[in-house]
Amino acid sequence: MEAIQVDESVRGQAEILQHISAYVTSMALKCAVDLRIADIIHSHGGGPITLSQIASAITGSSCLNVSYLARIMRLLVYKNIFTAHHPSDGGETLYGLTSSSKWILWDSKPSLAPYLVLQNEQSTIASLLCLSQCVKDGGLGFDKVHGCKIWEFTSANPEFNKLFNDAMSSSADILMGVFLPAYKDGFSGIRSLVDVGGGIGTTLSEIVKSHPHIRGINFDLPHVIATAPFNERVTHIGGDMLEAVPTGDAILLKAVLHIWTDEVCIKILSNCRKAIPEDSGKIIILDVVLELQDNNIFEESRIALDLGMMMFTGGKERTEAEWKNVLKKGGFPRYRITKLAAKESIIEAFPK
Ligand SMILES: C[S@@+](CC[C@H](N)C(=O)[O-])C[C@H]1O[C@@H](n2cnc3c(N)ncnc32)[C@H](O)[C@@H]1O
Repeated sequence: MEAIQVDESVRGQAEILQHISAYVTSMALKCAVDLRIADIIHSHGGGPITLSQIASAITGSSCLNVSYLARIMRLLVYKNIFTAHHPSDGGETLYGLTSSSKWILWDSKPSLAPYLVLQNEQSTIASLLCLSQCVKDGGLGFDKVHGCKIWEFTSANPEFNKLFNDAMSSSADILMGVFLPAYKDGFSGIRSLVDVGGGIGTTLSEIVKSHPHIRGINFDLPHVIATAPFNERVTHIGGDMLEAVPTGDAILLKAVLHIWTDEVCIKILSNCRKAIPEDSGKIIILDVVLELQDNNIFEESRIALDLGMMMFTGGKERTEAEWKNVLKKGGFPRYRITKLAAKESIIEAFPK
């Protein structure tokens, strides 16, 4: 077919149409994750396999709609999530994995599957649908939809609590893969490390595994600690970081400060400063540092995450200048940022 010439205006129209349909791609991706399509292909040695083979491996259906499945796969192939090979003899199309598909596997780590499920969950989407209402009236989308704060909601809903904690653990798995090799020397001299807002302790378990001289203290809300798996090298403590945090040689804050406003961050940082030695102590923050340049492959997801924080918890993603400001006011005048091949960076901050 001959390509038609388009002017800037038509290009603009096409771009807006792409943005409008971006959520459909996200839903198709969620469908692939729900039906474990990448795992099915992976379990056949990575494929490629036919749609009939994929269909026969999908469990829990007595009347699977294969033509729906074919159309969903067409979109995901178009978006390079899967490959499609059309045999020249007219045989069935064969579907294979791409470098993206490995990130939506359930049966292999690290994986974005649990994070994708949380992001495409009804209550998450409903919160983001409140953006314009919140711009006009203030408040948080999550609170408007659920009538309570997110941590009250996770506490009252074990299912959502699990969804949330699994998503956080999966993102911890991913980050540890790049953080631990980059931060080998950073743990020397640290005998006790407190993970403030450490969830169910996934991050700390990985750290103590690769640094056996460290004693881990995982600190989070009591209802989260109640579901944390046992680890003989990690002590789990329930409490409220706005009140006080356990003492240690150093404190880790992974994806924690971005859930709070500047004012609350400063309070938490002050509590952290009281809990570490004045001379040798440090905090290790693993969080987004916004660069606001489009040449970083993670930047779009960082800026989008900022809107998520705005609607879910009232937090924000920060530029280096914004980090410098909260760190200084929280009692950490000196800091050092190390960039990683990840959405997050390492920010070490020192009381002196
Ligand atoms: C975004 S999650 C990050 C979890 C973990 N650091 C990770 O990256 O996998 C924020 C964590 O802070 C915890 N949290 C929220 N408010 C808290 C409070 N007041 N005191 C202690 N923990 C709190 C939540 O339960 C949640 O586990």
